[in-house]
Amino acid sequence: MQMSKEDILKTVPQKGFFGHPKGLLTLFSIEFWERFSYYGMRAVLLYYIYYETTQGGLGLEKTTAASIMSIYGSLVYMSTILGGWLADRILGSRSTIITGGILIALGHVALSLPGSVTALFVSMALIILGSGILKPNLSNMVGDLYSKEDYRRDAGFSIFYTGANAGALLAPLIVGTIGQAYNFHYGFAIAAIGMFIGLIWYALTSRKSLGEAGRYVPNPIAPEEKAKLAKRFGVGGIIIAIVLLVTILAGWMTIDVFTYIVSILGVVIPTIYFVVMYTSKKTTEIEKSRLLAYIPLFITAICFWSIQEQGSTIFAQIADGQTRLNFGSLHIQSSWFQSINPLYIVVLGPLFAVMWTKLGKRQPNTPVKFAIGVILAGFSFLLMVIPFAAGASQISPLWLVFSFLLVTLGELFLSPVGASATTKLAPAAFASQTMSVWYLSNASAQAINAQLVKLYNVHTQVNYFFVIAIISIVIGIVLLMLSKKIHGFMRGVD
Ligand code: GLN
Ligand code: ALA
Repeated sequence: MQMSKEDILKTVPQKGFFGHPKGLLTLFSIEFWERFSYYGMRAVLLYYIYYETTQGGLGLEKTTAASIMSIYGSLVYMSTILGGWLADRILGSRSTIITGGILIALGHVALSLPGSVTALFVSMALIILGSGILKPNLSNMVGDLYSKEDYRRDAGFSIFYTGANAGALLAPLIVGTIGQAYNFHYGFAIAAIGMFIGLIWYALTSRKSLGEAGRYVPNPIAPEEKAKLAKRFGVGGIIIAIVLLVTILAGWMTIDVFTYIVSILGVVIPTIYFVVMYTSKKTTEIEKSRLLAYIPLFITAICFWSIQEQGSTIFAQIADGQTRLNFGSLHIQSSWFQSINPLYIVVLGPLFAVMWTKLGKRQPNTPVKFAIGVILAGFSFLLMVIPFAAGASQISPLWLVFSFLLVTLGELFLSPVGASATTKLAPAAFASQTMSVWYLSNASAQAINAQLVKLYNVHTQVNYFFVIAIISIVIGIVLLMLSKKIHGFMRGVD
């Protein structure tokens, strides 16, 4: 029997974690460990891919390494489409989360064993699938803990976002240090252990803390649909497998070709999404207007994430090759720079929350916040022009510290607001896909980055940072000028 949202909510303990439902601690913890494993792995993966084999790496080109990191990140967010669907129609959120967590842990195990490029791709496939199906469902479950009117709801999401960033903050310091100072594979093993801890904790606490939330399948597949879907998936899967096999064996499917395909998908998939949502019979006139308003916001978000995600590719390269890391007897690991962004989020996030509450109705609307976010991101790149234009070959770490500060301030303007704006602007009929729509902005950004990073090297870096900075700042200014109009199209949503 299907329970209504209200009935489910009655089964969820409403207290137990600093005035929040105790289920929030369960979700916070698994998000913490999942992001710990993901960002720990990413803090050393770039180096693992391009370090020489004598240094324990795979010895690929730096540019290829940055491209692989980008398509990897892109596919992780792209596959959230699958997670929304799987939970909505077959498994429910709770089982989807467990399945995803197991796949992720296995993915890290694959990397923890000494291996080759093939092991890397197997691990990537597992983690892409795993995080794709886990991540949107965790966020959806947070929403399930509160009624729509509950005043604690936004704070709940902020606490959850802090969990993600606390994991991302700690991981480079542990996984990064062990991976770089000892052995990459030990680092990946710690990422695997982190994910297992998260899963065990979740399994132990979810029964008591989450009530019936996420247990039900909101929109189950009808029996007559089952055979048809199984056939579709079966045939689709076989075709994809054959195409991949043939093209790999024939030598056509190189990393470069695969990168192009992902980059194209990064643009095509959101386009299809918008067209389907806009033309759906279930989408009302007001919702259509809101969708139109969402498009410029989405494009701005792509530009923002493109810069933000280069923190783990281009900036990681600079941290390792062009930054002073030795201060007397102190040696800084280049992977530690990956902790800077989440550190700012953890420290400044609460200040932003207080600021929005204090400003109340006087706070800027969503398009203005997006514009400020992307402009700050642009300035984070502009800042990097200075030391390199001056011809420095080894820069002070402070340049990176300040550049990360600018982009992270931008993130605080744009990211939490973006997630919540998406839930308000997406048509009701597509509710289960809402988180995926938001994550698609990151997927597109990294799909584009997979091509963009090919233009980067130490000779082009001044122009690279300058041009991308100007494009972002211009996009931000245009959005500012259009903000009143766009806000009008949002029809009552702030
Ligand atoms: N750093 C954020 C996270 O991992 C990025 C989320 C997003 O793209 N919206 O949760
Ligand atoms: N800031 C990145 C995210 O929010 C780490 O998780």
